[in-house]
Amino acid sequence: MNPSDEIHKRRTFAIISHPDAGKTTITEKLLLYGNQIRMAGTVKGKKSGLHATSDWMEMEKERGISVTTSVMQFPYADATVNLLDTPGHADFSEDTYRTLTAVDSALMVIDAAKGVEERTVKLMEVCRLRDTPILTFINKLDRDVRDPIEVLDEIEDVLKIECAPVTWPIGMGKSFKGVYNLLRDTTVLYKTGQGHTIQDVREVKGLNNPELDEAVGADYAQELRDTLELVQGASHDFDLERFRAGQLTPVFFGTALGNFGVDHMLDGLVQWAPAPLPRDGGERQVQPDEAKMTGFVFKIQANMDPRHRDRIAFLRICSGRYHKGIKLKQCRTGKDLRLGDALTFLAGERDNVEEAFAGDIIGLHNHGTIQIGDTFTEGEDLRFTGIPHFAPELFQRVVLNDPLKSKQLHKGLTQLAEEGATQVFFPLRNNDVVLGAVGTLQFDVVAARLKGEYGVDCRYEPVSVSTARWVEADSDRELENFERKAYDHLARDGAGHLTYLAPTRVNLQLARERHPEIRFRETREI
Ligand code: G4P
Repeated sequence: MNPSDEIHKRRTFAIISHPDAGKTTITEKLLLYGNQIRMAGTVKGKKSGLHATSDWMEMEKERGISVTTSVMQFPYADATVNLLDTPGHADFSEDTYRTLTAVDSALMVIDAAKGVEERTVKLMEVCRLRDTPILTFINKLDRDVRDPIEVLDEIEDVLKIECAPVTWPIGMGKSFKGVYNLLRDTTVLYKTGQGHTIQDVREVKGLNNPELDEAVGADYAQELRDTLELVQGASHDFDLERFRAGQLTPVFFGTALGNFGVDHMLDGLVQWAPAPLPRDGGERQVQPDEAKMTGFVFKIQANMDPRHRDRIAFLRICSGRYHKGIKLKQCRTGKDLRLGDALTFLAGERDNVEEAFAGDIIGLHNHGTIQIGDTFTEGEDLRFTGIPHFAPELFQRVVLNDPLKSKQLHKGLTQLAEEGATQVFFPLRNNDVVLGAVGTLQFDVVAARLKGEYGVDCRYEPVSVSTARWVEADSDRELENFERKAYDHLARDGAGHLTYLAPTRVNLQLARERHPEIRFRETREI
C-alpha cells in the first residue's frame, strides 16, 4: 500500500481519566473490537490478580521487557488505531503527561457517578497545550449515577469545553435500557450479560417509533423524548471543526463493564479524530506524508527487572515510514544510528511487522544515549518542539547513606533527570539535593536505579516544597534582581534552569504578586 494511504488510516490517541473511572476496562473492550483478544479478560491484573491472556503478555515474555500496554495497535473499520497508555494509579508520572504530546486525539473517560475528578482536570490542562481534540465517554451507566445533564454541565464548567452529546442514555442502573444516537436518530438497546463479547444489539429507528415504547417501556420512551428536547435546546450540536480545534467534545454514554457504548465512541474516533497532523520541527513544519522518516522520543521506559538493564525509548513517527535497517540521525548529537531491531506494536501480526508509519510508535533499545525530546531524522537537522518538562508536585530530599558517594549521586541524578525519570533541583542556599516527581512511584524507581546502576544507596526525607515553577524574565537584570530577593526559595534544575521552589501555594501566589516582571512557568521546553 502507498505509505500516504497508510498514514491517513492512523488514529493515535490516549485515554485521560481519573483512577477507577474505567480506563483499563475500556482498553480491554477496545482490544476486543480490534480483534486482538477473543474474550476480554483483564488487561492488567488488579484486585483479581489475574493477567490477561492477550498477546501483550506473550510479547512481554518473548521480549523480556515490560512493554505491556505501553502502546496497543489494532485495526478497526478502515483505520489502524494506536492507543498509547497513560500510566494512571501508582505509576502516574511525567510520562503520563508527555504521552499526551505524542497523540493526535484523546478519549476522556468520566465516571458518571463522580463527574469531573482532579486527575482528569490536570490531564485536560496538558491536552490544552496543543488543543488536542477530545472525545468523551461517560461510563458506568449500569449503576445509579448522577443526572447526565448535570454531568455535562460540570464538564463544560470545570473543563471549559463545549459538550455535544452524540448518544443519550435511557434510564440508568438496573433500569439502563440503552442509548439514543442523536446523529443517526436510532436507539441502541442494551442487554446485560454481554460484557465479555461484542454485543449483539437491537436497534430502533426514529424517536417517535412505537417500537421504541414497546422496547424500553412507554414511560422511558416519553422521558427520553422530553429530555432530548431539553438537551437539544441547551447543549451544542456536533461540529467537526470545533472538535478538531479542541473546543467541543462529542459525548457518548455507556458501560465499559457491560461493553455497551464503547464501539459508538470508537466509531466516532475513527470517523472524526484527525490522522497524523503536521508537527513543528523547529526549522519548518513537517508534513506526515513526507517521504523521509522523522520522529521524536516522548518517553523512556526503564526496566525494573535487573536481568534486563535495557531501556526502551518510545519514538513517535511524525513523517514517512520506518523500515528495518533504516539509518537515522540523532539530531542532538549528530550521530547516526542503524535501527535493526526497533519494536513495533501491531499485536497479533508482530512477526511480520517490519515497517511503521507516521502516527505509529516504535520502541528503540537505549543504552543511555537517547534522551526525552530527541529528534531523529534521515539526515536533516530538525528539532521537534512541544515536548515539555512539567512542574513536579511531589518533592523529597535525597540523603546519602554513604556520604562519600556524592559525586556518583550527582552523576546518576543528572542522567536520570535527562532521561525524564525524575527532576532534580539544587537549592542555591545549601547543598541539598531535592527530587521532584508527579507520581510517588517515581521516587522508588529512582532509588532502585541509583542503587542498581550507579551503586548509590540513598533514602528520602520530607522537604518543605509544595510546588515548583521555572522562572523567566525579559531581561537578565530583572532575573538577577529576583535571584537576590528570592534567593532562599530558588534552585537550579538538572539542566541549570532557575526554578522557584514554593513552600506553599500561598507563597507562590504572593511571589507572583510581588514580582509581576517574572514569569512563573509550569512547563519548560526540553
Ligand atoms: P481504571 O483503569 O480507570 O483505574 O479503571 P478500571 O477499568 O480498572 O475500573 C475500575 C473499577 O470500575 C473496576 O472495578 C471495574 O470493574 C469497574 N468498572 C469499570 N467500568 C464499569 C462500568 O461500566 N460499570 C460498573 N458497574 N463498573 C465498572 P473494581 O472492583 O475496582 O476492580 P475489579 O475487581 O473489577 O478488577
